[in-house]
Amino acid sequence: MNRHSSPPLSSLSEIQRIVDWSIRTRRSVRAFSDQPVSREDVESILDTARFSASGMNIQPWRVHVVTADAKANLSAAIAKVDDDPALSAELEEPYQYYPREWVTPYIERRRKVGWDLYGLLGITKGDKPRMHVQHGRNYQFFDAPVGLFFTLERSMEVGSFIDYGMFLQSVMIAARGRGLHTCVQAAFLKYHRIISAELAIPDDQMLMCGMSLGYADERCIENTLATERELVESFTTFHDKNKETDV
Ligand SMILES: Cc1cc2nc3c(=O)[nH]c(=O)nc-3n(C[C@H](O)[C@H](O)[C@H](O)COP(=O)(O)O)c2cc1C
Repeated sequence: MNRHSSPPLSSLSEIQRIVDWSIRTRRSVRAFSDQPVSREDVESILDTARFSASGMNIQPWRVHVVTADAKANLSAAIAKVDDDPALSAELEEPYQYYPREWVTPYIERRRKVGWDLYGLLGITKGDKPRMHVQHGRNYQFFDAPVGLFFTLERSMEVGSFIDYGMFLQSVMIAARGRGLHTCVQAAFLKYHRIISAELAIPDDQMLMCGMSLGYADERCIENTLATERELVESFTTFHDKNKETDV
């Protein structure tokens, strides 16, 4: 398939259905089955994602793939620190992902998704030990057979964060096309030094996020989480009148 090739299906509506399906069925899976994912699949996902757009075609992404012992060792190294409140409290993230001050409507959305997930799992407000265990599932890659880490050269500017978002979405959509699921994870940011040390990532590379990749274990209740979205009219303004003549 080259970049100027015609659509692989004769009907455009069929293509729309498939593309929309891939985007709409992408969701964050937080329980994976032990069904293996082949290296060929991972390579083929990245081989498609590399066609993502980036300003001036700079393609700022770098990917580290962890499986088997490398993944288990990393999980263990992170869990050791994560389970020690004194050690984990001292850690700083490589960049500020979330707002320092949460305002409406974002704070409500954040709370809703958190409580919806904990609600499904029967974790009640104030049950810090169970919250910690559930949060710690991040570092086990939710049992996914493949973990991915994405880094960016530190000299890059904020524009590369836009490029990165495109690349991450492409990875997730290409995964859907292969029947696979993902969960992007900012939870790894706090442990960027451990990850860099374990994977020998050079100092000039900054961790952007991690990602779990595998087949969903649909028997698990956490995978029934249905997150809400705002309607198009709530975030879109169509401008079609001349400002001066607009009343
Ligand atoms: C950059 C990024 C970081 C995220 N970090 C985490 C994370 O650390 N752990 C987690 O369980 N989900 C994480 N998520 C998943 C979001 O919670 C999820 O995308 C959101 O609630 C919408 O749900 P959906 O992905 O199922 O559509 C992250 C998503 C993004 C885009």
